[in-house]
Amino acid sequence: MSIRLSNGSEIPIEMHKVRIVQRTRLAPAHERLRAIEEAGYNTFLLRSRSIFLDMLTDSGTNAMTDNQLAAMMQSDDAYAGSESFAKLEQSVADIFGYQYVLPAHQGRACEHLLAKAFVKPGHIVPMNYHFTTTKAHFDLAGGKVLELYTPEALNTRSSCPFKGNMDLGRLSAAIEKAGPENVSFVRMEATTNLIGGQPFSIENLRQVKALVEPLNIFLVVDGSLISENAYFIRQREPGYENVSIRDIIREMMSIADLCYLSGRKSCSVRGGMIATNRKDLFEAIRPWLPVYEGFFTYGGMSSKEIEAMAVGIREMTDVEVAGSSADAIRYFACLLEKEGIPVVTPPGGLACHLDATRFVDHLPQSEYPAGALAAAVYLTSGIRGMERGSVSMDRDEEGNDVPADMELLRLAVPRRVYTMSHYQYAADRLRWLYDHRKLIGGLEFYEEPPVLRFFGGKMKPKGADWGAALAAEFVSQFGPHC
Ligand code: F0G
Repeated sequence: MSIRLSNGSEIPIEMHKVRIVQRTRLAPAHERLRAIEEAGYNTFLLRSRSIFLDMLTDSGTNAMTDNQLAAMMQSDDAYAGSESFAKLEQSVADIFGYQYVLPAHQGRACEHLLAKAFVKPGHIVPMNYHFTTTKAHFDLAGGKVLELYTPEALNTRSSCPFKGNMDLGRLSAAIEKAGPENVSFVRMEATTNLIGGQPFSIENLRQVKALVEPLNIFLVVDGSLISENAYFIRQREPGYENVSIRDIIREMMSIADLCYLSGRKSCSVRGGMIATNRKDLFEAIRPWLPVYEGFFTYGGMSSKEIEAMAVGIREMTDVEVAGSSADAIRYFACLLEKEGIPVVTPPGGLACHLDATRFVDHLPQSEYPAGALAAAVYLTSGIRGMERGSVSMDRDEEGNDVPADMELLRLAVPRRVYTMSHYQYAADRLRWLYDHRKLIGGLEFYEEPPVLRFFGGKMKPKGADWGAALAAEFVSQFGPHC
């Protein structure tokens, strides 16, 4: 929740107490330089011990609740027919209103199962935006991902409340061109991860459904950040200001035919699931579950995580939980905006996103501006963010780089983990970096995996060693211990 202080300013206020903590450490600048060099200027390859604030992702890094931890102690490890799974089914029935549940070890496993069951060579899969693992699975199955966002989606300086909406005109044109029989399904990602965690509206979801239903095309929601999307609907969509998060989620699910999710985000566990009321869809996927994931009642998840997920699904409908990261992100983004630092607006659902195209406007896209910015932010602050730009795009079939629609540095805000002093520290160091941005140079690959290269690829400064120069400038100002 955000609370107004007597001086008129607003702060995000934590509606929980912190009762278990984990120590963190700020490695000095010379150590950070060595660490980022060893990591090939790829923040994915840094070790936790070298990181002060880990803003790589909100995936699996949220603080769990006392009720989740307590539930984990009562798990039933039966290989088949686990009571823990029965609790998950009950939570899904109560919150989503869905009868059939397929557990999976995480979100991308659900995508694999959906691809296996429904994506055929030559198919198209229209969506509001792709996610890296989604695209990888659907491409591997021979499908073609079509991103049918509205023009506003890519505007980083927007006040549009629903930049995650699907463009209906583009959707109907794409279906007409491919033929409805060649559409695997339509996918709506609840807060479009790669373009700033931006929500879609209920109205848009309803319009998409109205368009595809008569054509016998089913509608899939990627609900990894479903509670945050619901929170934004409550804040931004006329008529929903007094509707509970629980009712909004229920309404979204009544429109969709199937929902899959990474449980690592809104649900604050490590797992995933597919849920639906459509028996035909359930039965098309179900045979593949024991082949790839595990038996029907655990699907590759530990029974402890299944218990925690059953609780997490209920807890994410609490408005204080649904808004916990969204409110912190808004606060963080406003701090940065006040300092003149280019951030994506409106602030979204999983992270505060820096617009690298504007931050390092002297770097061409071919030199990976967002990747360079990620390394520079780490060097000057010990904060680990994630590149969400051209490094996150794999090469095309001819081996050419594919420029991303946006060059973003994502500073993820895991739920209930960081405090206001952390955001203030981050804003201060980012301000210093922004003032010294001309010191940041480009990157080039020297090790490049063929698929999802952003995970394991290694890069180095292109031309002069700007990393060392930036670290030296930082030390000259702050001393050797910061
Ligand atoms: N869909 C969305 C919208 C996601 O954000 C993610 C993961 C997945 C699917 C895949 O789920 O990781 O459980 O296999 N996003 C993480 C992130 C990796 O850092 O944003 P997964």
